Amino acid sequence: MWGGRFAEGPSAVMREINASIPFDKRLWRQDIAASKAHVAMLGAQKIVGMDDVHAIRDGLDRIAAEYEANGVAEDLALEDIHMHVESRLKELIGPPAGRLHTARSRNDQVATDFRLWVRDAIDAVDAGLLAFQRALLARAEEHADTVMPGFTHLQVAQPVTLGHHLMAYVEMIRRDRSRFADARARMNESPLGAAALAGTSFPLDRQATAAALGFDRPMANSLDAVSDRDFALDYLMAAAGCALHLSRLAEEFIIWASQPFGFVALPDAYSTGSSIMPQKRNPDAAELVRGHSGRITGCLTSLMMTMKGLPLAYSKDMQDDKPPVFEAHDLLALSIAAMTGMVETAAFRPDRMRAAAAAGFSTATDLADWLVRAANVPFREAHEITGKAVRAAEEKGCFLWELDLALLQAIDPRIDASVFDVLSVEASVGSRTSFGGTAPSGVRARIADARAALGDS
Ligand code: ARG
Repeated sequence: MWGGRFAEGPSAVMREINASIPFDKRLWRQDIAASKAHVAMLGAQKIVGMDDVHAIRDGLDRIAAEYEANGVAEDLALEDIHMHVESRLKELIGPPAGRLHTARSRNDQVATDFRLWVRDAIDAVDAGLLAFQRALLARAEEHADTVMPGFTHLQVAQPVTLGHHLMAYVEMIRRDRSRFADARARMNESPLGAAALAGTSFPLDRQATAAALGFDRPMANSLDAVSDRDFALDYLMAAAGCALHLSRLAEEFIIWASQPFGFVALPDAYSTGSSIMPQKRNPDAAELVRGHSGRITGCLTSLMMTMKGLPLAYSKDMQDDKPPVFEAHDLLALSIAAMTGMVETAAFRPDRMRAAAAAGFSTATDLADWLVRAANVPFREAHEITGKAVRAAEEKGCFLWELDLALLQAIDPRIDASVFDVLSVEASVGSRTSFGGTAPSGVRARIADARAALGDS
């Protein structure tokens, strides 16, 4: 395709280091779509005659059918997907194939193809995240009243509900989806027609090709159009943020499934056994989601390192943009599917969660709050009094609600029998009615809000 000024062909090593076809063949659908938009516009602008336009269009459709049926046969000598398509077109329709590349460079071509691919990837991720949110909402509703310990420092802090805990992830995923939507809106401009870097002397209609490919508008600067990879970085940043959230839930499942916790039994479908320890049941899927989040962040770092310091406009370093994006996308899609499956099928153990919630004097704050409310004690003083009650219960090896009233009154005479109404874990959770708090009534209201926002109610 470019041999005119060369006397000799490339060495085998040159061929191998130069070739991107092993990975960029994933762009074939986008490459053919962009070529069809380009050649239709060349015809409308009378840059290429309509007979050739039709021959090229029909040839591209045939290539698409071939690739759909048999995949793309790789030939390292043809470097990349763009040259594979064009060379096959030449085999199919002969010399008119040579008119397709009028007023176009592989630089604007690859930027266009890759944007189209990332746009599709965002739509696929968004569909996966929506299904994940629905799975979380269903389990949250089922467990709106299920008491579990809430932790800080991974120490039992205050009782919460499992429904409230799962709804925290619905919020995180809502933000992830909004980051992907922002990335999509920002990247939806067409580089096609920027040509190699400077634009072209042909009378192109860039608005027409942009519209045909579903872009909002053509990019305004030809140098930026061929050298920008912000769209891929925006995708990777959103992907890394989302993977981080999935990793936190994966980590919680791993902890919850561990025997000393026993809050959840992961189903067989998402567990594996040990080849030596017959009793084992390991949360491998969750561990791999946790691991994949690190690799996805590595993909983001990889492309940032590729792009930093590149002078305008195109440099071949930029061919390295695709592997990290493809890798991150595949890992993220699997991670979303795995976490959705785990949430849908996890067998939660409300008995174990409730028992753990009661341990660790988790309703001590409720006792202090009762002193403030019922006996008008300043909170700092109430904290001190409650601390003494906790110490007394610890010495006796009993729960706070098992202490004798007489003993509590010896600690502070303002305590009366109505204090026992607030010391159970159910009472504690039920009293947290502030907006966004863990009271089951509030959790149900937030579930309804979230469903309405998804258009599900
Ligand atoms: N395979 C190349 C890439 O992925 C296409 C652009 C090549 N352009 C060039 N001038 N060599 O970036």
